[in-house]
Amino acid sequence: MARRVVLAYSGGLDTSVAVRWLMENHGVEVVAVAVDIGQAADAGGEDWESIRARALAAGAVEAVVVDARDELAEEFCGPAILANATYEGKYPLVSALSRPVIVTHLVDQARRFGADAVAHGCTGKGNDQVRFEVGIRTLAPDLEVLAPARVWGLTREDCIEYAARWNIPLTVTKEKLYSIDENLWGKAIECGVIEDPWNAPPEDVYTLTKRTATEPVELVIGFESGRPVSIDGKALPMASLIAELNRVVGAYGFGRLDMVENRRVGIKSRETYECPAALTLLLAHRDLEDLTLERDIHHEKARLEPRWSELVYDGLWFSPLRQALDAFFAESQRSVTGEVRVRCEPGQCRVVGRRSPVGLYDHGLATYDATDTFRHEDAAGFVRLWGLGVQTWSARQAGGKASAP
Ligand code: ARG
Repeated sequence: MARRVVLAYSGGLDTSVAVRWLMENHGVEVVAVAVDIGQAADAGGEDWESIRARALAAGAVEAVVVDARDELAEEFCGPAILANATYEGKYPLVSALSRPVIVTHLVDQARRFGADAVAHGCTGKGNDQVRFEVGIRTLAPDLEVLAPARVWGLTREDCIEYAARWNIPLTVTKEKLYSIDENLWGKAIECGVIEDPWNAPPEDVYTLTKRTATEPVELVIGFESGRPVSIDGKALPMASLIAELNRVVGAYGFGRLDMVENRRVGIKSRETYECPAALTLLLAHRDLEDLTLERDIHHEKARLEPRWSELVYDGLWFSPLRQALDAFFAESQRSVTGEVRVRCEPGQCRVVGRRSPVGLYDHGLATYDATDTFRHEDAAGFVRLWGLGVQTWSARQAGGKASAP
């Protein structure tokens, strides 16, 4: 039986109720751990200190806030860019990337405070429980895992009542319309009217991609070995670069996704996302790869990319395959250095130019003008041999001779 539990704390209704519920139902001490992954800006404008205070008011013996923004950006979004990571070809893994970084901090804090269990507030229907639990068991198999929201059977109204009974101070007053998960890499919006996949998402689901900018703008994104390092020549740490792109590109209304996706637990769900920076960086990075990657490695990499995204989506960040794929991707990126010109206009963002000191685009080979260096005389024989096999086959089908003239 656990005596002290580290709880992944968001400051919201569910995890605040979870503090008290764990105390009452498991007789444990609760250490609340809130991890700042860039979601604060949208958490109702609340600062981390009041979130900490709420955890203590709910009964936590200790409440800690950990700043993991740089870590999320450098160690999770970075590799995701190298892997051109999108689940089912669309979703840039916003929530999926954040869970392993939260897990590492939950485990660290469990060690620090001598806890023997870790708890999270996920329900039984989603992917996040999978990511938390597989991650925790991989890093710290000795820690027990508790998932109160999976067993307590409380509705939202029950939770509000429970919080009132225990004097847990809450900011929630108005009806909550959507279930939201946010970090630097973007925002996931679920539930409410968008649970019907036929319903168009109402404008009020969007906060990061409200269209306010009207004048087109061009940005130059600099990459080094596949990682974004600058905007318009100004070097930026990745977390700031992502935040800046969210702000600039988001203002053009770019970065929205509306999809039906396959959860790991067998449910199809309708998902709405806003991820302006992620989609822009993926767009620009892919484009720079087109310019700088040799054909075979490019094509082989493209075959492996969906596997990486599936692993991360499925909660297998801490796995040997993910590590090995990352090593392959990192090796492939040695030449992915250069700049990509991106043009933002209301409702869209697209690549309009790219350049690289190590690009494989050879103007002499590509041009049709007088500076052409391509050996035209080589083409006729190459093409004849290239098609020889199918030419022979075709002749046989027609009952003709195998050998070509
Ligand atoms: N469907 C997405 C995923 O599995 C988003 C999950 C959002 N999480 C949440 N707790 N609202 O990655």
